[in-house]
Amino acid sequence: MENKIAHPSFLPDISKEYLFKRAIEARENAHAPYSKFRVGAALLTNAGVFLGANIENPSYGATICAERSAVAAAVSSGAREFYGLAVVTDMEDPAMPCDICRQFMVEFFPPGIPILIANLKRKVIETNITELLPGAFREFKA
Ligand code: THU
Repeated sequence: MENKIAHPSFLPDISKEYLFKRAIEARENAHAPYSKFRVGAALLTNAGVFLGANIENPSYGATICAERSAVAAAVSSGAREFYGLAVVTDMEDPAMPCDICRQFMVEFFPPGIPILIANLKRKVIETNITELLPGAFREFKA
């Protein structure tokens, strides 16, 4: 029988549930007056849970997504070990992270940690950064 606890991507259901709830809480803090599309994220790390929300401005392009907000908050506070991420929107089909966020996550996420993409009705897609960004661009040597 597979030893799930030894698996690096293992995260107990209770932790996933907690991240889901914290992502809903983060979504309440979204600043999305332009798109009206609110996104929340919660990232579990060695230094606790960090929240992220999408933050827009009238340039549109300078918007930061919830996923990057959460990673930025965690890294800015010194967290470097990442155990799982939950992202919540109110889309009928959970909204997959944009490609900029995928590149941002691949810098820090171990390949197997769970990324839970959810909607408010608890429809959840569980994936990981390897699935989201196979063949990622990584550090180059000049
Ligand atoms: N957004 C996120 O926060 N995460 C994603 O993965 C996709 C898009 C935000 C950016 C913008 O504020 C709004 O959703 C519409 O694109």
